[in-house]
Amino acid sequence: MANKGSSAQRPNGAPQNKICQFKLVLLGESAVGKSSLVLRFVKGQFHEYQESTIGAAFLTQTVCLDDTTNVKFEIWDTAGQERYHSLAPMYYRGAQAAIVVYDITNQDTFGRAKTWVKELQRQASPTIVIALTGNKTDQANKRMVEFEEAQAYAEENGLLFMETSAKTAMNVNEIFLAIAKKLPKYEQVSGTAGSGQGRRLGEGETPKQAGNCCK
Ligand code: GTP
Ligand code: MG
Repeated sequence: MANKGSSAQRPNGAPQNKICQFKLVLLGESAVGKSSLVLRFVKGQFHEYQESTIGAAFLTQTVCLDDTTNVKFEIWDTAGQERYHSLAPMYYRGAQAAIVVYDITNQDTFGRAKTWVKELQRQASPTIVIALTGNKTDQANKRMVEFEEAQAYAEENGLLFMETSAKTAMNVNEIFLAIAKKLPKYEQVSGTAGSGQGRRLGEGETPKQAGNCCK
């Protein structure tokens, strides 16, 4: 029978959609805006009085990379308060991507972000894609971390870098999309959610989130 199995063609000849699933973790000092970035990316919302995260929160979102590839992010939004630090390895272990967030109005949070990057470089997967994000650019009048300083640090360490605002949505989708583009899309050994293996769903499998893509 023509076009059976590995042909990856729909009956109309169009290529079949490929869905790649990746585990992504957010790290950074408390109150830098990790949960706000996730809320903006997943639900398009922003809360002035966002509650501090306890432990970690889990959300998913799917983005369309191109006509044939969707990327489903399984997002672990960790708690930045120091007392939760020891839990972090549970979330970054096996993650294919990490967003390390600091607040551009607070120099200490940039220092903390660098410490997270070092920890990831030492203890996370050697192939992890790390993005550094300077959040709260809508408060540029209170800026304490210069764009150029952070950009130079990111370049030295091979990190993606963007400044964002969860409040205005500036660069929020863009940073996730840049990560999606950098992640390897080859078919990987399947694993359960959170097992650390990127996973391309097989023919006939319909992930719940796939319908959210390409709206
Ligand atoms: P933890 O859960 O404690 O680790 O904090 P977090 O990093 O998740 O920070 P969260 O998203 O809870 O945001 C902390 C505060 O900063 C909240 O009051 C948010 O409304 C505010 N906030 C987050 N992002 C932005 C932003 O881009 N601009 C401004 N002006 N405020 C922001
Ligand atoms: Mg939070």
